[in-house]
Amino acid sequence: MSLIQLINFDVKGDERGLLVALESNSNVPFDIKRVYYVFDTKGGVVRGCHAHKEIKQVAVCVHGHCRMLMDDGISKADVVLDSPELGIFIDRLQWHEMHDFSEDCVLLVLASDYYHESDYIREYDDFIKRVNSHVHP
Ligand code: TYD
Repeated sequence: MSLIQLINFDVKGDERGLLVALESNSNVPFDIKRVYYVFDTKGGVVRGCHAHKEIKQVAVCVHGHCRMLMDDGISKADVVLDSPELGIFIDRLQWHEMHDFSEDCVLLVLASDYYHESDYIREYDDFIKRVNSHVHP
């Protein structure tokens, strides 16, 4: 499966402007249990830098832009999120980092579960160990 899994959202538009609707198990490939947004990120800051054991997420830059780096433990790839029409699916066991936030960036994230610190893998070495044990149990 591709490291960068983008989702192009249908945009409803009329003379008043534009609208995107996000729905569980439709254009978002899981039951949405939590929504959070990251904003007012200071210059040069890198966020994320973790993977999740089970939680899946979709991130959408609803304003401004940032660069999302994805890493499955074997290869890395990045993509600039700069459109409210574009989401990126962050699967479980995908190390992800957010770089190059614009000052006006608002990054909306939909998650498949509530916030549990125990679901985080915050050490890159632990992540690699888990990926290897997942591939070669
Ligand atoms: P953190 O995971 O460090 O953010 P990022 O991965 O974007 O760099 O989270 C920052 C703080 O917010 C940390 O104290 C945990 C808290 N937090 C919640 O309470 N609920 C949440 O849903 C999230 C994502 C974070």
